[in-house]
Amino acid sequence: MKKSGLILWVIICALLLSAAPKKNPEIIYLAYTEDPTTSITVQWHSPIADAASMVSYRKKGDTVWQDAKGSSIRPEAFEMLIHRVDLGHLQPNTFYEFRVGTFKKTNLFRTLSADVNVNPIQFVVGGDAYRFLSSFRKANRQIAELDPDFVVVGGDIAYTHSNKVPFKGRQWEIKRWTTFFSEWKSSMVGKGGRMIPIVPVVGNHDVPKNQIDPRKTPVLLYQLFAFAKENISFRALDIGSTLSLILLDTDHSYPIVGEQTSWLKQALSDRANIPYKFAVYHVGAYPSVYPYNGGIPKRIRKYWCPLFEEGGVQVAFEHHNHAYKRTFPIKDEQIDSKGVIYMGDGCWGVKPRKPHPKAWYLAAKDRKNCFNFVSLSGQGCDITAYAITGEVIDKAPRITK
Ligand SMILES: [Fe+2]
Repeated sequence: MKKSGLILWVIICALLLSAAPKKNPEIIYLAYTEDPTTSITVQWHSPIADAASMVSYRKKGDTVWQDAKGSSIRPEAFEMLIHRVDLGHLQPNTFYEFRVGTFKKTNLFRTLSADVNVNPIQFVVGGDAYRFLSSFRKANRQIAELDPDFVVVGGDIAYTHSNKVPFKGRQWEIKRWTTFFSEWKSSMVGKGGRMIPIVPVVGNHDVPKNQIDPRKTPVLLYQLFAFAKENISFRALDIGSTLSLILLDTDHSYPIVGEQTSWLKQALSDRANIPYKFAVYHVGAYPSVYPYNGGIPKRIRKYWCPLFEEGGVQVAFEHHNHAYKRTFPIKDEQIDSKGVIYMGDGCWGVKPRKPHPKAWYLAAKDRKNCFNFVSLSGQGCDITAYAITGEVIDKAPRITK
């Protein structure tokens, strides 16, 4: 072939490739803003040219696709769009296929069971996730093996803000998030290729310091994740009429004291008839590593723990300490069989630390990368702590109602 012919052939191939339909966005993830038994939120990132915020979806096995429209935002200084489409009126415990925008690949999600007597609800809670890529990946593989319905990340999700790593600018921040979401997409895959949704909780390394109010100044975390109320981190996730997750903010975007505590009191009162109530937040009231008398632990014990005890919260999942812990049941800052169990303690993809050897409240502790697997069925709720090697390191006493 002559040189000019070869050049023409290369140009034609390049044009054909660029015009070919793209399979899937590099970043696509699932979140919840309403009841996960009947709804889900699909999110993805795209170049600005791929502006269609639309999802086509159908029950697995159906032939007809339905379309749902959503919206997108372009975060300041980034050449990208973050899309969000909310799907509602879904059937519980059902697989759905879906495609996003103009992308052709078919993905899969499953709604949660509305009756735990028929199908259990199973999920993972962990925190302090993507600090080191190697342990983050290793943990993700173990988590996906358990095939949880969803995963709660209890703060310090991608370590985008840190004192130890001087802030390197907005491009560095989005690069960390891009790696986090790419890893999640490739590793958090359940049985049958189902995508595993993420429930984010804010930590100190997820937002700028000084409690910037995301309602007044854009904060990337709140642009990346769909929240039930835009820009508000503290919220409840109600799963059918069986379980409520109370997701809180330990002084990162919103102060513990004031608006959030008032909301917590009302939220627990509104859920008096929900049999299982678990809280999830970042900094611990009963730390396994940090000082007991730190400012935030003291504020949580003063303002939130009495509300947990009064409002029927059985377990509070805490993080930030980089170790494993399970406390005795605690009420009025004393061991009491009618109290709340505090579990954590944020050691997913960070370097494990040595827990306090003699803290009065620690029933179990370990210096291991770990996460908790929660299984809620008709028999009760079992919580198993796994090391990221797959080893079971602890089991909490069964909670029954
Ligand atoms: Fe932290």
